[in-house]
Amino acid sequence: MPFETVEVPAIRPYPVVVGPGLDLGGIVSDTIEPGPCAIFTDSMVGPLHAARVQGALEGAGWTVLGTIEVPSGESSKSIEAYADALGRLARLGLTREGTIFALGGGVVGDLGGFVAGTYLRGVDLVMLPTSFLAMVDSAVGGKVGIDLPEGKNLVGAFVRPRLVAADLDWLATLPEREISNGLAETIKMGLLSGADFFDDLGLIGAARAGDLDALLTLVLDSVSFKAMVVAEDELEGGLRAILNYGHTVGHALEAAADYNLQHGQAVAVGMLVAASLSRERFDRDLTDVHEDLLDAAGLPHRVPGVPLERALLAMGRDKKRSAADGSAWHRFVLLEEIGKPVRNVPVSGEEVSEAIGARVE
Ligand SMILES: NC(=O)c1ccc[n+]([C@@H]2O[C@H](COP(=O)([O-])OP(=O)(O)OC[C@H]3O[C@@H](n4cnc5c(N)ncnc54)[C@H](O)[C@@H]3O)[C@@H](O)[C@H]2O)c1
Ligand SMILES: [Zn+2]
Repeated sequence: MPFETVEVPAIRPYPVVVGPGLDLGGIVSDTIEPGPCAIFTDSMVGPLHAARVQGALEGAGWTVLGTIEVPSGESSKSIEAYADALGRLARLGLTREGTIFALGGGVVGDLGGFVAGTYLRGVDLVMLPTSFLAMVDSAVGGKVGIDLPEGKNLVGAFVRPRLVAADLDWLATLPEREISNGLAETIKMGLLSGADFFDDLGLIGAARAGDLDALLTLVLDSVSFKAMVVAEDELEGGLRAILNYGHTVGHALEAAADYNLQHGQAVAVGMLVAASLSRERFDRDLTDVHEDLLDAAGLPHRVPGVPLERALLAMGRDKKRSAADGSAWHRFVLLEEIGKPVRNVPVSGEEVSEAIGARVE
């Protein structure tokens, strides 16, 4: 099966190459002159895939100075892990001409990308996403960063990679629930996009079964859609906010569950809440459409046991809330119809409480 390329028309455009069995050495060296580099990865992905990536790069003339491995999981998006990674790069002797390859899921991409964007005021970054979520979402768009004890993603920057290369073979080792988590973002974008992408969501079952054609189609659809949105609004002044569909409530549910809830599950339920708010606003009921897609992806319809009061409190703290008059109105991305998102819809605290309440017990 041949690979496919999507060009992200950012301020500085970059290609996203997707396919099984990628000739990584050749693809990378077509975009960047081989030179010194470091591989950035985590403790799960490193032992599985770093040696082959290193071999492919060295075979194409790259000098791999070392591999920096952080513990797998969100806790590596910390100031401590960031500082440690910078120190290790300096000790490896990576210079301004060097390249960082971020091989891993969204955690590695966000942390490795922030390191690449700030070490020596920025070295070249290549994203090698290995989780489904990273392939369809986080590796594209240029947002990188880390967490603070005070909250997720509070420190970061826009750092454009030179190249994104997603080898679908990497997904063979990914735990099944991580495919489901990534599918939450694909479903989100398919609903926002409508048209052919929405129809392709019928491939979710095949994708979960590991069908490479289905995976390729869904990754390409997602990347193309996100690339289009990002091209319109790279620095998030407007349109890019539609990508928060399901996330206003999703983030609040994650916080209310002390992050003992998978992001994909939280977003799944967040989208269902948005669907019921959309029904009230636009008199069009897309709840069944949402539920069928979530079923196909192995995602839940509700998250019992998440305290409603805590979710509402977290909603109040959400940085995306419009606090113009200080009242408990929230701003939502809703769907007037499949493929017709509406931004900035004001929703009252009572409506939000009712819609979330129906999904947390
Ligand atoms: N920058 C953005 O635009 C953006 C967008 C969405 C999410 N994110 C961030 O992405 C992160 C979530 O990303 P994620 O879901 O990929 O999490 P993750 O990076 O923690 O990966 C999930 C798990 O899968 C493992 N893994 C990854 N690839 C694997 C493979 N091929 N085989 C076996 N195991 C593998 C990881 O080690 C980890 O345990 C969050 O920190 C989130 O904030 C960023
Ligand atoms: Zn998300």
